[in-house]
Amino acid sequence: MSLLVRFLLTLIGFAAEEETATKDCGTLMVFKVIAVRIWSIANQKGGVGKTTSVVTLGGLLAEQGQRVLLVDLDPHGSLTSYFKQDPDRLERSLYHLFFEQRYKDKAFVQSVIKPTSLTSVHLLPATTSLATLERQVSGQEGMGLVLARSLAQLWDDYDYVLLDTPPILGVLLVNALAACRRLVIPTQTEHLALKGLERMVHTLRMVMRSQNRQLPFMIVPTLFDRRTTASLTTLKEMRQLYPESLWKEAIPVDTRLRDASHEGVFPHQLDAQGRGVRAYRHLLVELEQADDAA
Ligand SMILES: Nc1ncnc2c1ncn2[C@@H]1O[C@H](COP(=O)(O)OP(=O)(O)O)[C@@H](O)[C@H]1O
Ligand SMILES: [Mg+2]
Repeated sequence: MSLLVRFLLTLIGFAAEEETATKDCGTLMVFKVIAVRIWSIANQKGGVGKTTSVVTLGGLLAEQGQRVLLVDLDPHGSLTSYFKQDPDRLERSLYHLFFEQRYKDKAFVQSVIKPTSLTSVHLLPATTSLATLERQVSGQEGMGLVLARSLAQLWDDYDYVLLDTPPILGVLLVNALAACRRLVIPTQTEHLALKGLERMVHTLRMVMRSQNRQLPFMIVPTLFDRRTTASLTTLKEMRQLYPESLWKEAIPVDTRLRDASHEGVFPHQLDAQGRGVRAYRHLLVELEQADDAA
């Protein structure tokens, strides 16, 4: 086991202990978090459609009348940039919640949040300083639960929280996995992406073991192009490797999704009946049903 993995397991171990302690103290923090549907969108490979999935699903949830918070845990700040916020210039971001126990201060947590082009969707932005977090909080107890605790402050403000995660197994991804109750793993339908998928599932199993809990996950094939052999054979391989966890449909390549990101709008605002948006609608139904059944 690598040193990094050992460190992460320690971090999660502390987190699990604290969660128990919180329950024992009689506060309802942990239960409050459970009332909100928190989903992580994760894959340790970049360019597979994580940020696109977060934005599209978030927009579709808002369309249903849900109050949604999108959280950018990626130091690159793609989600933050999507909504025309500058991750190099923002005064406050997720980063600041990791210091001086600011996650306990509801007013501070709320002050970090930014609006988007939809009134019922908000953004908890990233700044590029998040890239230095690993070094700064390394080895400190409780750092795996900062996001969960911050979200607990917001429990009556939102119905859904979608977490856009970084492609690196580190303190930020650990925070996401500790805070969420469901994981979506977008995976590009091309052969090289299978390795990344394998790594992600391995990470997840390790985290679940150390937390001693089950985190349901769904693998979502993305950037699917039925005209290419690569897409078709990769999808077939995915079915063989993960028959239980693979979504039965796929998100197709749809340039309208890219256009929406250039314009900084939610994809359904640009093309409500586009192929990509329609596929994401199906995915949302499936995820909500899985959550209802849990
Ligand atoms: N289904 C899709 N069809 C076409 N382009 C897509 C699709 N999904 C994502 N993209 C584009 O691919 C690029 C990478 O997607 P992104 O969501 O940023 O991936 P990640 O967050 O995993 O790095 C972006 O330019 C995005 O607009
Ligand atoms: Mg991204």
